[in-house]
Amino acid sequence: MASRGAVTTSVMLCVCLVCVGHVLRLPARLLNDDTKRALGYPPDSLLNFTERSTRYGYPAEEHRLFTQDGYILTMFRMAGAKEGGVARAPPVILMHGLLQSADAWLDAGPSAGLAYLIADAGYDLWLGNVRGNYYSRDHVHMRPDTDPQYWNFSVDEIGLYDVPATIDYVLNYTKADKVIFLGFSQGAGAYFIMCSERPEYCNKAKLLITLAPAARQTNTKSVPYRTLTQSMNKLESVLATSGIQEVFTKGALSQEFLAFFCPLSWISQLICAKGEALFDSFHPGSISNETLRVLFGHFPAGTSVHNLARYGQSMQSERFEKFDYGKSKNLELYGSLRPPEYNLSAVTVPVTVLYGESDHLVDTEDIAWLLRRLPNVVEAVKVSDPLWNHLDVTYSSLTKQTIFPKISDYLLQYSDN
Ligand SMILES: *[C@@H]1O[C@H](CO)[C@@H](O)[C@H](O)[C@H]1NC(C)=O
Ligand SMILES: *[C@@H]1O[C@H](CO)[C@@H](O)[C@H](O)[C@H]1NC(C)=O
Ligand SMILES: *[C@@H]1O[C@H](CO)[C@@H](O)[C@H](O)[C@H]1NC(C)=O
Ligand SMILES: *[C@@H]1O[C@H](CO)[C@@H](O)[C@H](O)[C@H]1NC(C)=O
Ligand SMILES: *[C@@H]1O[C@H](CO)[C@@H](O)[C@H](O)[C@H]1NC(C)=O
Repeated sequence: MASRGAVTTSVMLCVCLVCVGHVLRLPARLLNDDTKRALGYPPDSLLNFTERSTRYGYPAEEHRLFTQDGYILTMFRMAGAKEGGVARAPPVILMHGLLQSADAWLDAGPSAGLAYLIADAGYDLWLGNVRGNYYSRDHVHMRPDTDPQYWNFSVDEIGLYDVPATIDYVLNYTKADKVIFLGFSQGAGAYFIMCSERPEYCNKAKLLITLAPAARQTNTKSVPYRTLTQSMNKLESVLATSGIQEVFTKGALSQEFLAFFCPLSWISQLICAKGEALFDSFHPGSISNETLRVLFGHFPAGTSVHNLARYGQSMQSERFEKFDYGKSKNLELYGSLRPPEYNLSAVTVPVTVLYGESDHLVDTEDIAWLLRRLPNVVEAVKVSDPLWNHLDVTYSSLTKQTIFPKISDYLLQYSDN
């Protein structure tokens, strides 16, 4: 255990980082893209989703959809095709994790990024973006820059509104009657929340493939992650009085800082790779130098302080439960002193679970806890590489050997053609 003084210091540091990053939020980005290119930023770190996938020969479409509570989300579609030009059915939805966007599925490049691998296998692929990231930072009447209420959401609302809206949109657009849903970390946790709160949606997927699913997080090992989220939980109201509801936005100083330094190859290896390893765990040779240089062009992708606070709470709780507002507010909102637990028995969809032994963000003990509660697990697979960690799912150069074969088997088994 870290000493109390050390924890306090890290809490202060986190808060300073967030505040400074926010206050110095740049009205125009620090450097324009031409300057960045001249400075040697890799081109892929500067391209958006459609530009980048098109560059590698995968034309993509952009779609806008509305949630029931008025958030406007962007979704991408990368239609793969089998020989003969017909995509496999049903459509496949990929949902990213905390602080990511759909860009995460491309960062490992065409030989390892799961979006490319799944499109190559001929699926009609849809990539969601949850509220608050730079592709989904919009609302029918609230302005993210001036309405604090816009940022009053956590994974609770992402599961309640964003995932159902994403599924409805794809079903309506493609006229399919089911999808296959693949969720990474928060993307999987949000699906469980949807099943609990809106059970009529749960079986709109034929199969739910979960990659390092984040439900209960009691045993998370990562000290930086615990410190960051728990500080957000302690300080949410203080930050709110200073007008800070949003964190790690693209274009904010903290993100620009990473985007500036990490693309330089020597710093990337020296600091950004070490930082990544410290945050998750050390997996030498997994994330390529090129991926590391590219991913910080758009990571972190932004979320609310409230959402990070919610994760901070989940690490201090033995349950998978809703946001804890304190006794009196809980009573008013939920009718009970403690926040209600999510009903994992309601996750009736067939589920496969892939997880890594060295994942310091979603611990194997919490995976075991989850597996004891999910009623319809088709298979739970511990990735054979003992060093497989959390961020490997989207960024590793080894996905083709480690997790894709299993994903591909299940997609095929549950597809119609
Ligand atoms: C991506 O870039 C293209 C071309 O510059 C632009 O038309 C499109 O609107 C951008 N998409 C998003 C979601 O930013
Ligand atoms: C956030 O939303 C909840 C209801 O979901 C409400 O009770 C709470 O007061 C809101 N918080 C703020 C700061 O507006
Ligand atoms: C369903 O899709 C059709 C076109 O395919 C579109 O016109 C309609 O607005 C969509 N409905 C919803 C609720 O998205
Ligand atoms: C990545 O960079 C490090 C340090 O610059 C170097 O030692 C290593 O060989 C590089 N790896 C690859 C795969 O290029
Ligand atoms: C949880 O979900 C199951 C399956 O849908 C249902 O039978 C049960 O009543 C639910 N439990 C609660 C407490 O809502």
